[in-house]
Amino acid sequence: MQDMTKDPKQIISDAVQAAFSSTLGAEYKDVNPVVRLSQNPKFGDYQINGIMGLAKKTSQNPRELAEKIVGVIDLEGFAESLEVAGPGFINVTLTPSALIELCVEMDSPSLGVLQSEDLHPIAIDLCGVNVAKQLHVGHLRSTIIGDSLSRVFERVGRTVYRENHLGDWGLPIAMVLDRLMRSGVNLDTLSITDLNTAYQEAKLVAKDDCGGIKTAERISAGPHRILELQEQNADATAAQESAKSALVKLQQGDKDLLLGWEKLINCTMKDVYASLDLLHVKLGPEHNRGESFYRDRLESVVDSFVKSNLAEEDDGALVVRFKDRKRPLLIRKSDGGFMYATTDLAAVYFRTQELECDRLIYVVDARQRDHFKDLFDASTLVGWNKTPDGTSVKFEHIPFGSVLGEDKKPLKTRSGSNVTLSSLLDEAVARGRDEVKRRSKDESSQTHGMGEEELSTIGRQIGIGAIKYADLSNDLVTDYVFDMDRMVSFEGNTGPYIQYACARITSLLEKSGETDFSSNFIINTPQERQLVITLLQYGAVVQNVAQNLEPHILCMWLHELTGAFSSFYQACPVLKVDDGAIRGSRLRLSELTRRVIVDGLDLLGIEVPQKM
Ligand code: ARG
Repeated sequence: MQDMTKDPKQIISDAVQAAFSSTLGAEYKDVNPVVRLSQNPKFGDYQINGIMGLAKKTSQNPRELAEKIVGVIDLEGFAESLEVAGPGFINVTLTPSALIELCVEMDSPSLGVLQSEDLHPIAIDLCGVNVAKQLHVGHLRSTIIGDSLSRVFERVGRTVYRENHLGDWGLPIAMVLDRLMRSGVNLDTLSITDLNTAYQEAKLVAKDDCGGIKTAERISAGPHRILELQEQNADATAAQESAKSALVKLQQGDKDLLLGWEKLINCTMKDVYASLDLLHVKLGPEHNRGESFYRDRLESVVDSFVKSNLAEEDDGALVVRFKDRKRPLLIRKSDGGFMYATTDLAAVYFRTQELECDRLIYVVDARQRDHFKDLFDASTLVGWNKTPDGTSVKFEHIPFGSVLGEDKKPLKTRSGSNVTLSSLLDEAVARGRDEVKRRSKDESSQTHGMGEEELSTIGRQIGIGAIKYADLSNDLVTDYVFDMDRMVSFEGNTGPYIQYACARITSLLEKSGETDFSSNFIINTPQERQLVITLLQYGAVVQNVAQNLEPHILCMWLHELTGAFSSFYQACPVLKVDDGAIRGSRLRLSELTRRVIVDGLDLLGIEVPQKM
């Protein structure tokens, strides 16, 4: 009998590779046999598709080669039949006893998800809000995706550092701080809206426009025009200068400014935490390691590059150059100031050399693609692509796409401003609540007669689950249209659909009156078989998400599993079946399915209401 801790696909693959080796020679032992789940149960459970390619490579008749391979594959006790079909596929049907054994193995707390032996932690850079600005939709994506990936890695046994790289150090924050302190506002009672307004105003004044003056200079608009602009914008220039000197003072550790700075952070983060809480993501103050954390490490970052002869002077500034492109990476400005990139280099050093992470994942929108390419290449040049014990570090940027409005343009409010995160979440929750309340009026509904508070909690879980699922079920790099109606629907490939399916299984189990689900598995009907074959993939699906950083694979699979359960439930009576042994088996299958859905949704950060 085979090693049952593996997923069936792997067991078949291994056996086929051994057959390749004995039929064709040891040099063929690593050829991918391309084992797939069968599209149609009529043709067995799995299909081996790799023979045709191999036949071509070795100039043989594919059907003959397939026959030869079938003759030597050793799947004794595991496969009931191996059948050559079409031009050279092999259809595999598993024995009921193998299926049962695999199910028993899976029906454990780990649900078939193997634990990694890699002791290096992983750093996941997520959220990354900017202090003094409100969270926007981009931060929503970064947070949801980053949280889900963190959960997946934790699930496969890795230690994860969730790194919230807050934008909390630099000119923008110095600018608002300077403005607020000058105007004598009480920073203790500041609301996020006040802060946001102050930020917008400060930005306007400061912008108004030094850029315009620069343009006038560049296009040689003439001294007269420049003077005129300068006069008009005296305020702006003064504001810029004042902000810059506030930043210098802040960076030098001015006590008053630092105190004010902390207050601005608190004010922002209070609002952020309220959203994060509502979102049900695992992200708190303990995960904050913002730009300011690295402020005393920037000098030494630059030193490392200088010492390795990797920094070049360019007009008073320091840059790192790359062989394959013109664009250099600026690490110190001519005025001695450091850049966003310098801070990120310090973070790479910290994560790889101090935390000893061997995988750095950045969940940051696609517009920062170039920044991360430069960051990774510069880190590699300076040797931070190895942990202290010499393990290679994998750097990955997930350049996620934008959230679009119905007009296929980046989501904006009616007045044209950026949509804030909290307004979006509030609406989703309201929609979830409306839906639950509407359904609870129906006497046959699970939620009929529930109190206001309970309904409201369920509504929140649905609304938030809907947003998260919609976000994660797309290929991350593509833009997607934000369609609230579709997201909250109980039908289709949506979060609520899967939540609802799960709540129905819960209710079925409750109705059974049983509490112990450990009867023997009996797998007779095609639907039971299909459900089991799907369930058995769970471990491999989770590993796949960890490997390829694609949560939509898990979404798609959960949707499939829900479908397989629903076909099973339609074809195979559970509570009404006379045979007690079959009833017990079907209940156990239902309970296993329920646990897998709950676990899978948890990896997406989605809660499952008991009733819906
Ligand atoms: N604060 C940045 C922004 O809003 C995102 C930070 C991303 N993380 C990083 N390590 N650079 O654009």
